[in-house]
Amino acid sequence: MTDSQSVTVISRDGDTQSNIEWVRPQSLMEAIRDNDLPISAECGGFASCATCHVHLDAASYRAFAEPADDEIEMLEGEERYTPGTSRLACQLPFTVTDGVVAAQLASPPVDF
Ligand code: FES
Repeated sequence: MTDSQSVTVISRDGDTQSNIEWVRPQSLMEAIRDNDLPISAECGGFASCATCHVHLDAASYRAFAEPADDEIEMLEGEERYTPGTSRLACQLPFTVTDGVVAAQLASPPVDF
């Protein structure tokens, strides 16, 4: 069983890329947060704040199960919501994909 997945995290403005390892049993939000990248994840992973909003590239998006209705409801309230790319990173369980997962931070910037 593979316990690690490479992820490229792109900053909200698109100017910076960070390559991180996503390890079981983290959610994608936890992997980003635990690598000290700027994701606030205010609700702690309960799909109730949308501050972990990310945009996935097409191949990465297809690697995960479709978002649940409550996740879509949260995302629809987001300024940068884009169907087919937007996800709540906290709702993405550890998954091994064929390539590198690419996720761009979409939530408003937070001060760290
Ligand atoms: S951490 Fe709050 S919705 Fe994901």
